[in-house]
Amino acid sequence: MSNPVVATAYEPKEMKFRYLGNTGLQVSLFSLGGWLTYGGTQKGNVVKECLQTAWDLGVQTFDTAETYANGASEVEMGQALKELGWPRDEYVLTTKVFFGTGRKEPNTRGLSRKHVVEGLKSSLARLQTPYVDIVFAHRPDTATPMLEIVEGFTQVIRNLNLAYYWGTSEWSAEQITEAIQIADKHNLIAPSAEQPQYNAFHRERFEVEYAPLFEKHGYGTTIWSPLASGMLTGKYNDGIPEDSRFATNKAFFENTVKSLKAPEGQAKIEKVRKLTAIAERLGGTVTHLSLAWAAKNPNVSTVILGATKVEQIKDNIKALALIDKLTPEIMEEIEGVLDNKPAKPNAWGRQRL
Ligand SMILES: NC(=O)c1ccc[n+]([C@@H]2O[C@H](COP(=O)([O-])OP(=O)(O)OC[C@H]3O[C@@H](n4cnc5c(N)ncnc54)[C@H](OP(=O)(O)O)[C@@H]3O)[C@@H](O)[C@H]2O)c1
Repeated sequence: MSNPVVATAYEPKEMKFRYLGNTGLQVSLFSLGGWLTYGGTQKGNVVKECLQTAWDLGVQTFDTAETYANGASEVEMGQALKELGWPRDEYVLTTKVFFGTGRKEPNTRGLSRKHVVEGLKSSLARLQTPYVDIVFAHRPDTATPMLEIVEGFTQVIRNLNLAYYWGTSEWSAEQITEAIQIADKHNLIAPSAEQPQYNAFHRERFEVEYAPLFEKHGYGTTIWSPLASGMLTGKYNDGIPEDSRFATNKAFFENTVKSLKAPEGQAKIEKVRKLTAIAERLGGTVTHLSLAWAAKNPNVSTVILGATKVEQIKDNIKALALIDKLTPEIMEEIEGVLDNKPAKPNAWGRQRL
């Protein structure tokens, strides 16, 4: 008979934790996701090594989606998790439904009740797990009534036990508010967190549009592309390295690469150079500074890292040490370099201090 007492496998090390918005769920401030990487350019042992490295440094939250590599990301990450054999209650696993896995039948994507239920069931089969902790609606579905969407996610949580929480990804504040209000009105489960892009070059929606969601609803966030796909590491300052994302996913990043040569892209690279100087003064790199800058925002529940190599994870977790070094004066200096602080709507003297 197997021993019913499970020894802990997890050690937090230097990791910090935040609650996922208003929920009781705690997520590691840095998490790890599999977009373009696991099941995409990286398969097999390297996936397991990346997850293991992250875990050894205190990461306990992992993110994937049905659409990543048409399901192969869930397969690779699920296989790695199975082989690693960590106690299931010691890690948080999240996936996303909406885009499907590339099939042509119309019900194999979207947020109809049918696809929310069947899509998640298929994700779980690929992940080889009976549930995820959070399931995200990977985009809004403007063709499906919001009541049906909220009912679908309530069903997978309340009736089917396939997830504990649900969230949104790249929904407008208006759509999120509508979902919360419908849930309240019909005694259904409201979404708890949004998965938006947030980094030093992409701020407007997070900092302005979502501000009322944070204030009124305590909405959580699991933010993506914190390094702007690698731009904020400085690796693209002098061209496109051969084994980098912009080269290995050429078609997807064609416009981004073109824009790097244009004045707009050159201005970004100039900012990366200036941020590098600030980071070095603080004893870190521009990668650490960019990740710490995102993590510093209290409305961020977790910063999802992406990594093709074990070394990148080891490097990125060093950002933890820089968070407290970002004093108000340094944040002001960074603001001066970025010069992109989004303006808040005029409150006509009625803002609460
Ligand atoms: N909900 C959504 O719509 C959505 C969209 C996108 C992503 N996401 C989630 O967010 C996660 C993170 O996004 P992301 O991968 O775009 O994050 P990111 O941090 O902006 O980019 C990660 C990539 O940058 C490079 N990199 C990372 N650390 C580095 C380092 N220390 N030195 C040099 N290069 C480094 C690696 O690519 P190379 O080695 O290939 O250059 C890595 O794969 C995804 O995995 C996914 O889970 C969600």
